Amino acid sequence: MLQIDSIEISYGAIHAIQGVSFSVEQGEVVAIIGANGAGKSTLLKGVAGLEPLQQGSILWKGQDITNVASHERLRLGIALAPEGRGVFPDQSVRDNLLLGAYAFRNDKERVADLLEQEFKRFPRLRERSEQMAGTLSGGEQQMLAISRALMSQPQLLLLDEPSLGLAPLIMREIFQSINSLRDAGLTILLVEQMANQALRVADRAYVLETGNIILEGTGNELLNNQAVRAAYLGSH
Ligand SMILES: Nc1ncnc2c1ncn2[C@@H]1O[C@H](COP(=O)(O)OP(=O)(O)OP(=O)(O)O)[C@@H](O)[C@H]1O
Ligand SMILES: [Mg+2]
Repeated sequence: MLQIDSIEISYGAIHAIQGVSFSVEQGEVVAIIGANGAGKSTLLKGVAGLEPLQQGSILWKGQDITNVASHERLRLGIALAPEGRGVFPDQSVRDNLLLGAYAFRNDKERVADLLEQEFKRFPRLRERSEQMAGTLSGGEQQMLAISRALMSQPQLLLLDEPSLGLAPLIMREIFQSINSLRDAGLTILLVEQMANQALRVADRAYVLETGNIILEGTGNELLNNQAVRAAYLGSH
């Protein structure tokens, strides 16, 4: 479904992504794990079209989208739930969600159905629908970021560190929702520092270190890999 071939992304002299290749098949959950500064967010931005590539190519369902703009990639079915959540703090939860469905804003019925679907997924968002997004807790903002991305009815959901800064209980809730999205057939590319949860939910995973993929395997293989355990799974 998604094929990334030898991509490079730089910020001036900083070579954040140094020739990365990987693929995501339809229906898969693929995780990319790596430490702070490894290049995870940069990689997702590259896929979403928010950072230009210096080298390499991106194929989406056989179509070369290397030079396709981010809003067009969204229309093609690629949606990003960004790190730091990226919600609009001074707009209500509802309005943030409606922005996710901007492309079909004129189809009122479809938008209402989607909104209802997200309120069912995260009842907390329904309770807080008129609240300003900036006043939500970190976990609630993460729910909103995921729901907003889903409002565009993506075929591929890009999740940038959905568990960042969350307490274990709410983190479990987020990963449960990722699991149900997978069960519903959604394809997901997830980047995480918290490797444990990510590898549990992932069909396949890659380890990103200073802009390079150094290891790949099934989620289980990497969970049981000594080097991964030592570097990314603490003592668990
Ligand atoms: N806009 C930018 N301008 C300059 N350098 C940047 C920019 N964004 C990221 N970088 C650099 O690129 C490298 C990769 O950053 P990136 O945010 O992709 O890492 P990450 O793996 O997402 O880290 P984290 O886990 O902390 O979110 C870092 O060295 C970072 O300082
Ligand atoms: Mg990041």
